[in-house]
Amino acid sequence: SRVVLVGPPGAGKGTQAEAISARLGVPHISTGDIFRRNVGEGTDLGLRAKSYMDSGALVPNELTNEMVRRRLGEDDADGFLLDGFPRNREQAEFLDDTLRSSGRTVDVVLELQVPAEEIVRRLNGRRVCGTCGRSWHVEFNATRAKGICNACAGPLHQRDDDREDAIRRRLQLYEQQTAPMLAHYQEKDRLARVDASGPVDAVGERVAAALGARP
Ligand code: AP5
Ligand code: ZN
Repeated sequence: SRVVLVGPPGAGKGTQAEAISARLGVPHISTGDIFRRNVGEGTDLGLRAKSYMDSGALVPNELTNEMVRRRLGEDDADGFLLDGFPRNREQAEFLDDTLRSSGRTVDVVLELQVPAEEIVRRLNGRRVCGTCGRSWHVEFNATRAKGICNACAGPLHQRDDDREDAIRRRLQLYEQQTAPMLAHYQEKDRLARVDASGPVDAVGERVAAALGARP
């Protein structure tokens, strides 16, 4: 299956993605993770993306689309879970065109919905593993040892864009560009909205139910 995961910053896309991709047997492709890896490795793409990311802006469509096109060309035998892409109308049209050229389509777009005040609490307490990239939370999704990743024992830190000004900008861009894009999928009856507030496990169950209900 070909699934797109959408939601405001801090909605829990990365947190839920692991279980979804395992369940569906498809690779998890997060544009944010790919950009952060490139920034960390100091690649040309990373250098070009960094300033946009740090301020909470979107990386320009040309850069992002080209990166996704290459990634989807690599392995899509059985589908994908795209996390954080598309994020605006132009990216959605690009994805449609790219898939259509090889007879493919997006099966379902899952939108994780979370109230604004819960988002701010999640982002303020988020800690990210410098080694494997997994996200934890000081209060809600805590690690057993302080400052250490549960999965790989790597060191935890705060993301450069989890500052108040960048958070505000990311929320604003979601409302201005990403939320309106969803109409594109709703018209084709591909949109499934999921209440993503509350504990991680409860959200996971709602996500599984929404996916199970789709053909
Ligand atoms: P990206 O990495 O995609 O950031 P984002 O969309 O802002 O989403 P986040 O990663 O902040 O949140 P998430 O939904 O994954 O939440 P998480 O699971 O961590 O993109 C970063 C940047 O890259 C963009 O700003 C842009 O510059 C660039 N970019 C990426 N894609 C692009 C594109 N298509 N076009 C252009 N530019 C692009 O959860 C958050 C916290 O809450 C964690 O601490 C977690 O432990 C906790 N938590 C999760 N679920 C729960 C729960 N149910 N209850 C309590 N706590 C929870
Ligand atoms: Zn780790």
